[in-house]
Amino acid sequence: MEHNKLLEMLKAAPGEYISGEEISRRLSISRTAVWKQINKLREEGYEFEAVSRKGYRLVGSPDKLEEAAIGAMLQTSGFARKLRLLDVTSSTQEAARLLAEEGAAEGTLVIAEEQTGGRGRQGRMWFSPPHKGVWMSLLLRPRRPLAFAPQLTLLTAVAVCRAIRKVSGADAGIKWPNDILIGGKKVCGILIESAGEDEMIKYCIAGIGIDVNLEPEDIPAELRSVATSLKIESGRHIDRAELIAAVMNELEQLYKLHEEEGFAPIRLLWEALSVTLGRRVTVWGGRGDISGVAKSLDESGALVLQDEHGSDVKIFSGDVQL
Ligand code: BTN
Repeated sequence: MEHNKLLEMLKAAPGEYISGEEISRRLSISRTAVWKQINKLREEGYEFEAVSRKGYRLVGSPDKLEEAAIGAMLQTSGFARKLRLLDVTSSTQEAARLLAEEGAAEGTLVIAEEQTGGRGRQGRMWFSPPHKGVWMSLLLRPRRPLAFAPQLTLLTAVAVCRAIRKVSGADAGIKWPNDILIGGKKVCGILIESAGEDEMIKYCIAGIGIDVNLEPEDIPAELRSVATSLKIESGRHIDRAELIAAVMNELEQLYKLHEEEGFAPIRLLWEALSVTLGRRVTVWGGRGDISGVAKSLDESGALVLQDEHGSDVKIFSGDVQL
């Protein structure tokens, strides 16, 4: 509710009560209509105190993202310079894909306060409650072969991990290929979806989901042992606009670095932030389970495991169990 007159009236009188009668008179609406609007605003996350004979007072507003706040902290030339900020959508991946098909420019960013059908990797759902996370999809148009997509996945993980460390101070690391963990629990997931034509990328949608200000009780019970949030880990509220801008700043820098110098420098950065390398892992993938010690990334971005016979096995996709 962007230009709600009732909300504007209460905001203009901070800390004060305004009676239902006065609101109804000033807005020329019935007392029932006032009550209905208050309830609708409550559903959107506004909090009111209602006291009989005194009226209503605004005591809390939802933590809403604002385009200007994000823009003020951007240091990019193209990334996020075109922004779609949505209240609610099924999945920002879908919204970004539609924009891509309509010819939107590289760097267009779609952000939603809430997703009702958030998607994770391998057909899983992604829990995306309102106002507490960063749910966003960036449109990229790299003029490269389809084989570039896995590198883009790793590059995105490095960018997001660096931004999270910078903004929250938390000791975040990357689990291959692109989960961001803090203290062994997942705080962010990345989903790269690509459309190709003749072996070349037509566009990629880099979907990033970060659990920012979720409280322990906001996390579904079945995920509590494996998922966390930046607020839980850092003990403080994190400014989502600052985090979004930091991710975009890092991402554009690394994207340009890749254009100029290829994957080698990105690989070094990824390895430095990795929590996978050096550990015995099991990978659940297309070829069944493979166990071994994670040794390195190869030049294409595949994970190199040393199996129990001492041979190197390259893993191109799958889920890693640490
Ligand atoms: C994963 O770890 O499984 C990937 C999760 C990706 C979630 C993000 S949230 C923004 C974008 N929209 C979606 O529907 N998914 C991605």
